[in-house]
Amino acid sequence: MDEQDPCGCGPALSRRSLLGMSAGAMSVIAVGCAPKNLGEIRDLQAPEGMVEITLADHPELAQPGGRLAVRADGKGKPILVVRGNGDEFSALSLKCTHLGCTVGFDESAGELACPCHGSRFSLDGGNLKGPAKKPLADYNVKFDGTTISFKVA
Ligand code: FES
Repeated sequence: MDEQDPCGCGPALSRRSLLGMSAGAMSVIAVGCAPKNLGEIRDLQAPEGMVEITLADHPELAQPGGRLAVRADGKGKPILVVRGNGDEFSALSLKCTHLGCTVGFDESAGELACPCHGSRFSLDGGNLKGPAKKPLADYNVKFDGTTISFKVA
């Protein structure tokens, strides 16, 4: 765990504050911080920062509304790739624009939800509810009929 980011939820807790907590309190924090409903996060190679996702290898994206969480070169916050209607795709950073927690997916609302302080985002990254004030970062996605690609660096 990172001293500044003990549960992947941003810099809110220090090592000193964690040492003063009971194991029960720490487990509540860990559970409370966990992003929900992302499914398996796939680590994909991203040579020169370019992520390429072949649809044939990722049936999660075969249908409208499909989504896939990926991590470029196993580093950084996950990115959620979402298929809209038809052949429209988006790729959103799941790093909350408030304090950097990993945003999860709220199945019932069809929205992205931050487990740390409750910010919510639409599937195009738009900010629906604070405390975050900015939309999620998105990547410029290209789709050639078989492969989705976007550059992360
Ligand atoms: S980090 Fe605070 S709402 Fe996401």
